[in-house]
Amino acid sequence: MERAWLEAVQRRSREFEQGLVKPVLGEEVSARAREELENQRGRGFTRPPTSMHPNLGYSYYAMHTREQAMRAWELQDDWGIEHLRLVDNPAPTARPGQIVVGMGAASLNYRDLMTVQGKSPGVKLPLIPFSDGAGEVIQVGDGVTRVAEGDRVCPMFFQSWIDGGPTAERRSKALGGPLPGVLQAEMLLDAEGVAHFPAHLSLSEAATLPCAALTAWRALVVEGELRPHDTVLLQGTGGVATFALMFAKVLGARAIVISSSDKKLEQARARGADDLINYRSTPEWERAVMELTDGVGVDHILELGGKESINRSLKAARVGGKVMIIGVLSGFSQEIAMRSIYGKNLRLIGLSVGSRAHFEDMSRTIAQHGLRPVIDTTLPFDAVPDGLRRMEAGAHVGKICFEL
Ligand SMILES: NC(=O)c1ccc[n+]([C@@H]2O[C@H](COP(=O)([O-])OP(=O)(O)OC[C@H]3O[C@@H](n4cnc5c(N)ncnc54)[C@H](OP(=O)(O)O)[C@@H]3O)[C@@H](O)[C@H]2O)c1
Repeated sequence: MERAWLEAVQRRSREFEQGLVKPVLGEEVSARAREELENQRGRGFTRPPTSMHPNLGYSYYAMHTREQAMRAWELQDDWGIEHLRLVDNPAPTARPGQIVVGMGAASLNYRDLMTVQGKSPGVKLPLIPFSDGAGEVIQVGDGVTRVAEGDRVCPMFFQSWIDGGPTAERRSKALGGPLPGVLQAEMLLDAEGVAHFPAHLSLSEAATLPCAALTAWRALVVEGELRPHDTVLLQGTGGVATFALMFAKVLGARAIVISSSDKKLEQARARGADDLINYRSTPEWERAVMELTDGVGVDHILELGGKESINRSLKAARVGGKVMIIGVLSGFSQEIAMRSIYGKNLRLIGLSVGSRAHFEDMSRTIAQHGLRPVIDTTLPFDAVPDGLRRMEAGAHVGKICFEL
């Protein structure tokens, strides 16, 4: 149905360009149809307008769309990996202040898996999922000066969080839910919603930065104010934890990594982890942490596990330590050890990703030290469901990427 609609629009566009048909004047297109078209344009043409008939609106499209359709992954009618559909959507066109980015790569976060499974509150269908990607600017709208055609950029996770602290408004426009995400060949964005990334990185490497890397950066550097002699505790070997290990080591800190797997722990050691604990064979891993730190505890904990780990984290923190509340891999906690929080004067800081300014600071550090993200697997665009299943199985270390 949608393909037929698109083909009709494109055929009419060609006829229009060849002078075979006369344009329908704007006034002749019903106001309702025009309003719907505008809505679609603002949302990146994720779906043809439901009440739009190709013969009614073709002249509008003929003047505003390129002929090339672009591929995208979309959840249309239902949640679940099995409901992802590879679709052809009309290519977007940049209006004043906007740009179009030809996406070259995307990467997967645990949040994307939860969103695809329908577990992210407030996110609605239809949806182009995933927040993280990288590409090249292929079109700039009038008045855009901060990027130019050919620039390599990452779309920012929060499109309107440019600088300063978090506010409800700055946190409201996240890619991959509620806004359309990066799993589309051409992405329409506000020019303010992207940032350049370090030149030594490939598109796949850069695609790992906007959520996972920035969260780890903000936790350790922005909120944590990490010092070289600090000790950090990192949970698991997924995206956020692996970036945190990279930043902790380059900034000179001691890193203790806990993981479900000895094999993954050895990989963490090869990347600089100082101390390793298997949380399956040592379920009371907080005791092991206290032993490793001579009964003092650690300065920073990136709390990713949620229900199974939060109270262990509170016990493993030093007096005055910081516990960054980031993830809920094992679910939401029902009870929290209040005594540890006040007794140890802990600082619990909830955080979600970061601003464009944080991203730019992080990029300078990545460039300065020539850092490279840990990529577990790079899959073709068609294999997005396989990547999601790999994450679901917890088989990965670092990031799962896709080439578009
Ligand atoms: N607040 C934010 O801004 C923000 C940003 C990014 C991510 N997150 C959240 O942070 C968490 C991690 O995200 P991610 O993208 O890094 O995930 P990921 O790449 O899928 O990493 C998951 C890994 O964590 C480890 N793990 C699983 N359950 C665990 C548990 N109960 N305790 C300790 N480690 C456990 C496992 O590694 P091993 O097999 O090595 O144990 C697993 O492979 C998710 O809950 C995500 O939603 C939050």
